[in-house]
Amino acid sequence: MEVVILSGSKPIAALAADAIGALLQRKPDAVLGLATGSSPLPVYNELALRHERDGLDFGQVRGFALDEYVGLPSGHPESYREVVRREFTERVNIDPANVLGPDGSAADVPAACRSFEDALRRAGGVDLQLLGVGTDGHIGFNEPGSSLASRTRIKTLIEQTRRDNARFFGSLSKVPHHVLTQGLGTILEARHVILIATGAQKAQAVRDLVEGPVAAICPASVLQLHPHATVLLDEAAASSLRLADYYRHSYENKPSWQGL
Ligand code: F6R
Repeated sequence: MEVVILSGSKPIAALAADAIGALLQRKPDAVLGLATGSSPLPVYNELALRHERDGLDFGQVRGFALDEYVGLPSGHPESYREVVRREFTERVNIDPANVLGPDGSAADVPAACRSFEDALRRAGGVDLQLLGVGTDGHIGFNEPGSSLASRTRIKTLIEQTRRDNARFFGSLSKVPHHVLTQGLGTILEARHVILIATGAQKAQAVRDLVEGPVAAICPASVLQLHPHATVLLDEAAASSLRLADYYRHSYENKPSWQGL
């Protein structure tokens, strides 16, 4: 796991966009794993800018959302299908037919989860997965206690996550209780994962995921088992890390050929 501590959201977004740009250079039809929430928004802004300004081309890219609320009516502004469209895919030249998420309105939920996993497999798997982390250590919506081998399935949100996400819905009572999410086993199969965390409210989750034991109580800690996981942090999110100075030293002295 590589931990990179930067001064704020702008350099974090630039670095993540550099990694995505380099991926598209060598694989124009790459599969991107798309997170929602606040953390990846600066990256989507930066990618939209590079598309507009530099012609960064998403014409052959495929996109897979991480998760989705269950039961929101189609077109609901906070459904992750809509968020991904509004914040990212409609701002670049990704073909909407090449963007898929778990279907939170399906009558047969297990079948919808299976068909999402099948589609991911047919696409050849995720090349680069963007992730945020919840204040309770969730990735996707794999709440504490999730199986470290889990696949896409329904989960019940912990109240802390519903409260954290109430800001998007205007009131806690409107936040759904159920979600579909890629499992931890699914996320581990992405070839590269980039997790972004900013702000002091993430410091404890970051410490647990980077330096704690691998344990279902902090689902993001499963990334310690991933062969290519990058964690991009601002100073506040990194403030509880014991080895922060070592991570800074390693990044400052990283061989220039290595990339992210
Ligand atoms: C969203 C997702 C969640 C968020 C997490 C952090 O697709 O999978 O794991 O990344 O809840 O949310 P923010 O970035 O809003 O703090």
